Amino acid sequence: EIHRASTTAPVNIAVVKYWGKRDANLNLPTNSSLSVTLAQSDLRTHTTASCSSTYTTDTLTLNSAPQSLSSPRTQACLRELRSLRAALEDSNPSLPKLSPLPLKIVSFNNFPTAAGLASSAAGFAALVRAIADLYALPQSPSSLSLIARQGSGSACRSLLGGFVGWNVGTAPDGSDSKAYEVAPAAHWAELRAIILVASAAKKSVSSTAGMQATVATSPLFRVRAAELVPARMGAMEEAIRRRDFEAFGALTMKESNNFHATCLDTEPPILYLNDTSRAAIRAAEGINKAAGKVVAAYTFDAGPNAVVYYVEGDTERVAGSFKRILANVDGWDGDRGWAVQGQGLEGAI
Ligand code: DP6
Repeated sequence: EIHRASTTAPVNIAVVKYWGKRDANLNLPTNSSLSVTLAQSDLRTHTTASCSSTYTTDTLTLNSAPQSLSSPRTQACLRELRSLRAALEDSNPSLPKLSPLPLKIVSFNNFPTAAGLASSAAGFAALVRAIADLYALPQSPSSLSLIARQGSGSACRSLLGGFVGWNVGTAPDGSDSKAYEVAPAAHWAELRAIILVASAAKKSVSSTAGMQATVATSPLFRVRAAELVPARMGAMEEAIRRRDFEAFGALTMKESNNFHATCLDTEPPILYLNDTSRAAIRAAEGINKAAGKVVAAYTFDAGPNAVVYYVEGDTERVAGSFKRILANVDGWDGDRGWAVQGQGLEGAI
């Protein structure tokens, strides 16, 4: 007999960035962060989890290629999910004993893996959600986010929809370092995002390695974690509450630039942006200057791809302008640009 559950988890793109760990084992951050879940886009990981006594060992495949399950992070996720199921079975003896059975996890990404498009976020969120569904766990998305966080920090935010915060927390065991809802997606339904894929290549420095180097070597990072980010969390939540795009957009760009400045301040310097990324920044600056206000807000994670936020009424002057401007940018491969309209994939630009 095979027990099975399938789910999908969306990508989330941070507007206040997570960068830095205070505890690498528990994967606890040095600062809070906040993201927008691209819930209706096709940028998702689809995962099926099954368990059966006919399986010999735990297995994971991603886009049909076998993956190792031996990393301490993946092991932590599986261990915690199994122990929640075991507790459920102990308290309800009529339930089938699934917790000791080997797991088979089959995942598909429909976007470039590890290219700075938050693939680990959707990946671990889908893994945790699929196994939690397989095990019929009653835990809330916020408490499951504690488990996903141990797989990949940003994954904790992909268990919730809409505008999601991740509280830095103070407990040494990490029990308060979890995701919370800032606002549901419907609160600001006019918000849109386009994703400009400047490169689908794997990123040069992994987030984990990069942020550890930053914490160890960047003086700018200390100011960022201690002063800038705590103030920005409050300002960003307020901008979202008021649906104030100018405040939201200005802060999103400032945050992204401070994060990448911190990367440059790391020894050896980490350079995630490329010429195409910089062309996207200049394009946004031009669009905002022409509009006389902030209508386009770019942000970059640990890679060269731009995510540009705007509101529906500005679709033509933002998304339309980007398509025209980037068509003339050297090195830009139009086939790799993805436009996400209305948080649903529109197609290549
Ligand atoms: C720049 O969540 O990939 O995207 O916890 O080491 O797996 P690990 O890091 P990860 O880092 C994401 C960093 C970021 C900013 C963000 O998503 O907040």
